Amino acid sequence: MKRDVIIACDFPDAATTLAFLDRFTDEKPFVKIGMELYYAEGPSIVRALHQRGHKIFLDLKLHDIPNTVQKAMTVLSRLDIDMVNLHAAGTKAMMEAALKGLTRADGSRPILLAVTQLTSTSEERMHEELLISGRIGDCVCHYAKMAQEAGLDGVVCSPLEAGMVKKECGAAFLTVTPGIRMDAGTAGDQVRITTPAQAKEIGSDFIVVGRPITAAEDPVAAYKQCVKAFRDE
Ligand code: C5P
Repeated sequence: MKRDVIIACDFPDAATTLAFLDRFTDEKPFVKIGMELYYAEGPSIVRALHQRGHKIFLDLKLHDIPNTVQKAMTVLSRLDIDMVNLHAAGTKAMMEAALKGLTRADGSRPILLAVTQLTSTSEERMHEELLISGRIGDCVCHYAKMAQEAGLDGVVCSPLEAGMVKKECGAAFLTVTPGIRMDAGTAGDQVRITTPAQAKEIGSDFIVVGRPITAAEDPVAAYKQCVKAFRDE
């Protein structure tokens, strides 16, 4: 898949999501369905967006015992999704089980990504609250390596870490990066952030952009601005 911008559709229901996406008349953007929307609408929202021609990243960040995650992934594999994810902190055994569960009878499966450290987590909180010592980048690279060993396709990380992950795991290992802001003054609850252009320079394959597009006065213009700065064309 080519380098692209994914819009995080963090909306409370299908009606709001469809009304928002109706504004995009030129092209069907790659979209992310997260917990809020999926828990509100269930698989029907995935079917609706697939039917409308959107590529879909189902961002449910699974994290449980291997058996539970494997079975959950089997259920999700029946949906027409392009990407899905879990937390690397669930261990290599959990990631291997997830991959097994996600692989359909014909051998096909969506891209499976591991969340490393959330882009809202600072190094300080990682030390003090999670009791993980050392640099956050080292933790991200370690989780990425573990995910690669488990057979996954890539990771979700901060764009600031995309370069290190590529160095550790090779260019083909995908980096999908939220924590994108049009300028440094609007971080909100995100901590480890960059602009779309910086993310591209560092080596991100997909940027996930939520509020800078969904809360913009002109979401289509904001999306186009991201695309222009990030895609290779
Ligand atoms: O609105 P904003 O651009 O901050 O949205 C970022 C999106 O990426 C949210 O949907 C959030 O759940 C998701 N995300 C994240 N950090 C991760 C993984 C996913 O911010 N590590």
